[in-house]
Amino acid sequence: MLIKNANDIASSEITPKHLYLNRRKFMTGMAAAGAAIAVGVGLHNLASPPATVLANAKIDGVQKSPFSTTETITPYKDVTNYNNYYEFSTDKYEPAGLAKNFKTRPWNITIDGLVKKKQVLDVDTIIKMAAPEERIYRHRCVEGWSIVVPWIGYSLSELIKKAEPTSKAQFVEFTTIEDPKQMPGQRGNVLEWPYVEGLRMDEATHPLTLLCFGMYGEVLPNQDGAPLRLVVPWKYGFKSAKAIVRIRFTDKQPLNTWARSAPGEYGFYSNVNPHVDHPRWSQAKERRLGEFLKRPTLMFNGYDQVASLYSGMDLKKNF
Ligand code: MTE
Repeated sequence: MLIKNANDIASSEITPKHLYLNRRKFMTGMAAAGAAIAVGVGLHNLASPPATVLANAKIDGVQKSPFSTTETITPYKDVTNYNNYYEFSTDKYEPAGLAKNFKTRPWNITIDGLVKKKQVLDVDTIIKMAAPEERIYRHRCVEGWSIVVPWIGYSLSELIKKAEPTSKAQFVEFTTIEDPKQMPGQRGNVLEWPYVEGLRMDEATHPLTLLCFGMYGEVLPNQDGAPLRLVVPWKYGFKSAKAIVRIRFTDKQPLNTWARSAPGEYGFYSNVNPHVDHPRWSQAKERRLGEFLKRPTLMFNGYDQVASLYSGMDLKKNF
């Protein structure tokens, strides 16, 4: 996110790899076919990629959610092969391969800070705390691409209720795993590790905020944040921290990783807002992965039900 101006990003970077490869193949169609024959390469190399193969365990008993959008779901292979996950790599095509053997069990999560029930819980205990729901959410990255994903999880508010925060708790801080042995990106200092995010208490307890452990009917793939991540659909993607190991309740606004690393570019709130440009690019439009033309970006990513959380706030100042 720090690395390039969006206008400098080639469409080859923002379009899923197989799609731009296919587009190139289409454009060079006849010539490529001729060349393939000439050098004796089989024409099957020019065919479409195979159908999606789902790789993880199924999650049973998942209820549908009224919060779901009816928009077209982004193909699984795009959502799982084009990822921002700096602990593994700054190259979006690499986390899928580099996270393949990432160990997501055993996995403990510490709940502490201004809370009555400080505790360390096994991730599977947390996963079983409430009924899983499928929430088909739009998810928009600050870099200008978006996806529609059938996430599985339950409202973070369910966990928060059980943790019993004290009346002093005003924010929730999420810390993610630090394990440079498993995560090659953490051996460098592209960001300060571990990755930290935060929400105001009313944002964290808003029913849309999802504690997520699955997608597309299955356990979350490692590159998408297994075993446990946040999905905050009205905020830019970087607020949705992956691989959470600590949830801390506090009376001070947490310093989130991206705001620490570039305070002029990334704020604490980071609501999707087409009227506040990133200092180096416009936020007015976005490209849905798998589509060619850009579409207008919607205020709060279209989740108008959160607008009241910010009434009276200057969202240009609080970007
Ligand atoms: N969480 C961690 N731990 N590390 C990261 O680098 N990247 C963020 C967010 N959560 C990130 C993270 C960013 S910038 C985005 S856009 C989303 O994850 C991407 O989620 P996705 O790969 O599932 O689409």
